[in-house]
Amino acid sequence: MTQLTPYHEDQELDNNTSANIHFRDILEQHISRRSLITKTASGAVALTLASTLTGCNDSDNKNNNSGGGTTTPVDPNKKPEKLNFTAVPKNLNDIVTVPEDYQADVIYALGDSINPSYAEWDDNSIPSGPSFQFRSGDCHDGMSYFGLNTATGRYDEQQSNDGLLVLNHEYINPTFLHPQGPTKVDGRRPEDEVIREVNAHGVSIIHVKKDTKTQKVELVKNSVYNRRITGSTLMEFAGPAAGNALLATKFSPSGVQTRGTHNNCGNGYTPWGTYLTTEENFIGYFARSATDDAARRPEEIVALQRYGLKAGSSTRYGWETALGQVDSQDLYDRWNADVKAEQAAQDYRNAPNTFGWMVEIDPFDNRQAPVKRTALGRFAHEDCRTSRVIEGENLAFYMGDDSRGEYIYKFVSDAKWDPKDVNGGYRAGDKYMNAGKFYVAKFNNDGTGQWVELSYGKNGLNESNAAYPFKSQADVVTFARLAADSVGATKMDRPEWCAVNPVNGEVYVTLTNNSNRGSSYPTDAANPRHYEDLKNNEKVQKGNVNGHIIRFREADDKTTAESFKWDIYLFGAEAAMAANINLSGLTDQNDFSSPDGMWFDPRGVLWIQTDDGAYTDVTNCMMLAALPGQVSDGSKATTSNGTETIVGAKVNDENLRRFLTGPKECEITGVTMTPDYKAIFINVQHPGEDSKSYAAPTSNWPATQTNPNNTTARPRSATVVITRKDGGVIAG
Ligand code: FEO
Ligand code: CA
Ligand code: CA
Repeated sequence: MTQLTPYHEDQELDNNTSANIHFRDILEQHISRRSLITKTASGAVALTLASTLTGCNDSDNKNNNSGGGTTTPVDPNKKPEKLNFTAVPKNLNDIVTVPEDYQADVIYALGDSINPSYAEWDDNSIPSGPSFQFRSGDCHDGMSYFGLNTATGRYDEQQSNDGLLVLNHEYINPTFLHPQGPTKVDGRRPEDEVIREVNAHGVSIIHVKKDTKTQKVELVKNSVYNRRITGSTLMEFAGPAAGNALLATKFSPSGVQTRGTHNNCGNGYTPWGTYLTTEENFIGYFARSATDDAARRPEEIVALQRYGLKAGSSTRYGWETALGQVDSQDLYDRWNADVKAEQAAQDYRNAPNTFGWMVEIDPFDNRQAPVKRTALGRFAHEDCRTSRVIEGENLAFYMGDDSRGEYIYKFVSDAKWDPKDVNGGYRAGDKYMNAGKFYVAKFNNDGTGQWVELSYGKNGLNESNAAYPFKSQADVVTFARLAADSVGATKMDRPEWCAVNPVNGEVYVTLTNNSNRGSSYPTDAANPRHYEDLKNNEKVQKGNVNGHIIRFREADDKTTAESFKWDIYLFGAEAAMAANINLSGLTDQNDFSSPDGMWFDPRGVLWIQTDDGAYTDVTNCMMLAALPGQVSDGSKATTSNGTETIVGAKVNDENLRRFLTGPKECEITGVTMTPDYKAIFINVQHPGEDSKSYAAPTSNWPATQTNPNNTTARPRSATVVITRKDGGVIAG
């Protein structure tokens, strides 16, 4: 028996060795999933209908102004003029802390069942691997709320009382997922553990119901809408790479399908009511033996290396080692990307090409398979934010590639927005996400920038390209990093989430940190800081230690623009750092490090979340609320390392304030609200991630949320809902 080392995202490698100015990273259950779902679904239909008849007509779901018990009625749709909740102090407590007058409740933690047939979670009796198809996955991440019209069963963007909460399960913490941590027997992972791990990845779709008076939110456990998408769910391909030889596998020789999605990190949602999930650190799931290069063509080796799958790569969890006794051996063999057969359609050499995409899921449609939208490129997809929705205008989708020195991309639909497509499901996805133009961003030092088109035959993206011989748009999107390298895109400090300001359409991107900025990546105006910081008074941290948030405004406010103007909205820093590092003027009420999750709510309040390892000697990770201005509202600045940049207006306590802190060793990620702004949902990922053994947890959250004295419970990732004690509007 061997303990595996817990994974952390910071372990990801640099793969961007391009010469212009980066990363690393089931199972169709044999237990007749279909028959189980059918049985469960039909059983649950009756229960859901019953609750509809008794509970749904007393709604206040039309963004009305009842104020929910507040003394001064507020217009929930109006952007607050200033932040007036009590700032949460930095702390190292093992609990989610929210402002006075707010409350935080855990609604959905690792292993919680989404079906009344499956028992409640019990720390001392970890359920079987297959049962996790009906339980919460691990490492909760990006998340969106979709209002549910219980009469039609379709999306209703105004509905706050019933909704589908859709959330990612990025990866796993095997230490606490299994009864006694992960094991290996004779060099192989036990099949039940692998099944549990594969099922603990992916996406949850859960029906939540909010009490119209108390605002209390609960999971509707018997709802037909509850379902899990896992590392083995059938997926379709659409767009330029669908059906291309690059996606041919033994499972789908014609390259039109694959099984599963994983490393679903940030997320997005479309104006037609579907969910977008990203595939970030996918590469670490594939093995390739040291001798495999000999069987590959030169361009295949170039592409495999650029995506971090060098010959001799081992996998993060060892799924390829399992012996199929419950399930078919093929489900495990697919994680080995070696050339093993005569033809690519007879092995899994191309399996890594079937991950790293943007995936569309219709939460309201459990019949059709989710669709991997290949037009949006293949890389360590972190997040996807749709532009403001304007009738008759093209839609843009903004995306980051989270690795050191990687790029910011956008995809612009050929189709112009037609509001009749709301509730159009995957057909609307086909209309807006298959045909369009794909771009990568170049930031100039003078505050201007360009979108460089990544289309086959343009900008040198052809057979004679020195980086890679592109033969079609399928090549360009599948090897988007190589295409972006060859057009001289700007290497950024790990692009994480994107957000679009509903007030003016400006786009914000978190650049979480980059330990190699100032060494292998020279500074530039858009990535201007490197400095040293001591952690616990001993460890020297280097590079862009605390991260920043860049923002840009498209020329003429058009999504189709090929140029933009940018500045740096906010620099992460410790309040006590020198003014030429703490360039935004952070104070104890709002200082933070390593911005990651980020979302503008429809009023225009910006929510910023952290996944930090630098300032965690002082405080746990957090979420802040912000009321930003606009590009160019600040001035030029020079950083401690002498690089000139353009910084937004300094912030103050009324427009940037700490709203929440998380438990020990967690990341705060995923943020969404009900449309009446009375409930905000966030995820706590990997509490206690540094625990050395299941028997010695360094966090006991979420048990500590209701019993602060608990010192024994397993730490579990979970979704938290925050409401005001008086039932009022959040940050209103
Ligand atoms: Fe999964 Fe880049 O955070
Ligand atoms: Ca993230
Ligand atoms: Ca992260």
